[in-house]
Amino acid sequence: MTSSDMEYLTIALPKGKLFSISAQLLAKIGYTAENLHEKSRKLVITNEEKKIKFIITKTADVPTYVEYGAADIGIIGKDVLMEEEKDVYELLDLKFGKCHLMMAVPKDAKRAKLTDYMHTRVATKFPKTAEHFFNSKGMQMEFIKLNGSIELGPIVGLSESIVDIVETGTTLKENNLEEIAYIADATARLIANRVSFKMKFNRINQMVEDLRQILESGEAK
Ligand code: PRP
Repeated sequence: MTSSDMEYLTIALPKGKLFSISAQLLAKIGYTAENLHEKSRKLVITNEEKKIKFIITKTADVPTYVEYGAADIGIIGKDVLMEEEKDVYELLDLKFGKCHLMMAVPKDAKRAKLTDYMHTRVATKFPKTAEHFFNSKGMQMEFIKLNGSIELGPIVGLSESIVDIVETGTTLKENNLEEIAYIADATARLIANRVSFKMKFNRINQMVEDLRQILESGEAK
């Protein structure tokens, strides 16, 4: 770690659904910067006074930046964290971004039981997590990795089912899909690089404590 790396705390924030609420939460503990808003196209945003650098990354890449130490800290959904299997510390459950991972199928072609889907195709953004789940049920499946709009898979005959996250249930409903198996809950997590956590312990620990206080006081909402 160079002396400049030591001076700054670098925080990876995901583009997309978690961005705004992450930025709002961090602002409550004084971690903010000019231009840190959803519409900005800037990828690195620095607060010189507080020695904070925010890097804005594609959601699934947050754990990679943190594992390699390009970011000291990151905010990411547990769903992505489970799938990416990166070597990082999970420091805090931030409680927002609540959703769950599940398996869904077209309502009008629903089979009698889960094992009736054995050896069929599953469209998903989460192939590793899905495979762990089906392995635990003794089921072998074929996984088709998609990067978004997963619900389209069974509608156009690409797959018999999907494994994806559900938040409000609107996307499932609007596409005539039905959840048939629950896999896991997920919320946003604060993660840290293992070396940064030791080298910048005081700063990171203070940040965790400040966030914990905000979350416990209910001010985060
Ligand atoms: C996620 C997920 C579902 C949807 C669920 O997609 O993959 O499609 O949200 O939310 P709901 O239960 O509230 O309808 P996202 O919007 O992140 O976009 P993507 O399809 O491009 O991944």
